[in-house]
Amino acid sequence: MWNVLGICGSLRRNSYSSGLLRAADRARPDITVLGAELAGRLPLFNPDLDDEALLPDAAREFRACADRCDGIIIATPEYAHGPSGATKNAMDWLVGSSGLAGKPTLLMSSSPGQAGGMRGHLALIPTLTLMGSVLVDSVTISGAPARTDGRGDFTDPDVAQRVELALREMSAALVRSERKASQALLR
Ligand SMILES: Cc1cc2nc3c(=O)[nH]c(=O)nc-3n(C[C@H](O)[C@H](O)[C@H](O)COP(=O)(O)O)c2cc1C
Repeated sequence: MWNVLGICGSLRRNSYSSGLLRAADRARPDITVLGAELAGRLPLFNPDLDDEALLPDAAREFRACADRCDGIIIATPEYAHGPSGATKNAMDWLVGSSGLAGKPTLLMSSSPGQAGGMRGHLALIPTLTLMGSVLVDSVTISGAPARTDGRGDFTDPDVAQRVELALREMSAALVRSERKASQALLR
């Protein structure tokens, strides 16, 4: 059983990003998506607060959840061809922790447009690799309004299938990362 931190980069009610995280949570019995509400509660990152004595409660909870989790799923909107500010802010809070190192990480997005939010992933990739994430093939879903129920839940079975496929890869990557960690312990 794997616990994966869900980072939702949208604060919007009925957001497609939160719908994708719910779809990921439903996709496989061996993966549970936790903490999807935490990124939205973070204050704006301020290095002055990145100190054990001053760390805001929301940031402490978010980092603790990242540390405990075996992998990460980031579901981000694409805003002006980049990731949302909420997504970038969550990344900034994680830089000072070891929450991503060696962990399988899946990027997901959905938008009404034909690129499905994929340009929102691009600027995140160098940051994620710098932080030691092990990237899994990402999911982008175009034409979102016709594939959802109006509350952000995906009703298109093809979307469920694509999410399931990505989560299957995530599961295999989690097994590989656990094997690597136990081999490192034996050395
Ligand atoms: C300020 C703003 C900028 C946006 N820029 C883009 C964009 O560059 N490309 C795109 O495909 N969609 C863009 N969109 C549409 C979002 O992808 C769409 O609102 C999406 O549903 C956001 O994700 P969410 O449903 O999780 O909130 C933009 C939306 C807003 C509000």
